Amino acid sequence: MDAVEALRLQYEWGADEALLDAPQDRRAAAPPVAALPPAGRPTAPRPTAKPAPALPAGPAEAAALAAACQSLDELKAALTSFTGCALRDTATQLVFADGADNAPLIIIGEAPGAEEDRAGKPFVGAAGQLLDRMLASIGLNRGNTRIINTVPWRPPGNRTPSDAEIALCLPFLHRHIALIRPRGLLTLGAVATKTLLPEAGAAGIRRLRGTWREANITGMDSGLPCLPSYHPAYLLRTPMAKSESWQDLLQLREWLESMILTKS
Ligand code: URA
Repeated sequence: MDAVEALRLQYEWGADEALLDAPQDRRAAAPPVAALPPAGRPTAPRPTAKPAPALPAGPAEAAALAAACQSLDELKAALTSFTGCALRDTATQLVFADGADNAPLIIIGEAPGAEEDRAGKPFVGAAGQLLDRMLASIGLNRGNTRIINTVPWRPPGNRTPSDAEIALCLPFLHRHIALIRPRGLLTLGAVATKTLLPEAGAAGIRRLRGTWREANITGMDSGLPCLPSYHPAYLLRTPMAKSESWQDLLQLREWLESMILTKS
């Protein structure tokens, strides 16, 4: 395989961005290795003067931080300062949300991609443009919905966020939903669906899509209607799935209309 082909392969697998700010010359001579102690009696390790570095915040801290937030502004500030999730270290910035803060419907994707990471806004790339067209086809837009992601930082190389990363971000996701108190949720793709419907989620998105379920959200008294559907990035790769996605959108429109009629 020649060098160009190897690079193309890396690009296709998602290694499309350098993670370091400054380029590194990996052909330069390696720095000298510290001299080894002479053989003989083992030397006792020197006591370290520095205290051990503080452990990064874990899920308990994330839950406490999120629960203390009384507004979306506070939630954004809490996430901005939260150091517990390593995704924050490789992302350019937090991608908090787009749309109305009193939306009756929250749409939940997986994670920001490269374009979202640059813009600081969810769903602005090719999948986002398709999402905008899908929403427009049933009279929705970014002004009457809320768009967020399961994790608010881009995973390096657009990989799927790990279970541990999702668990660390989950309290913030639940708090986001509880602060808005929408009438329902639309989960896009397997990751958002299994995160918000942990009991059903193992069944897979192909089985779950198009069926309303109940999501239990911390801080909300009753279950929230949740409709799983395909992720627009999947639809871009699999145009044949668009007809099923359209059925889901029609269901969503019907539900929104019934909700308007039953609004007291
Ligand atoms: N895919 C997602 O799940 N979220 C985004 O914000 C963009 C692409």
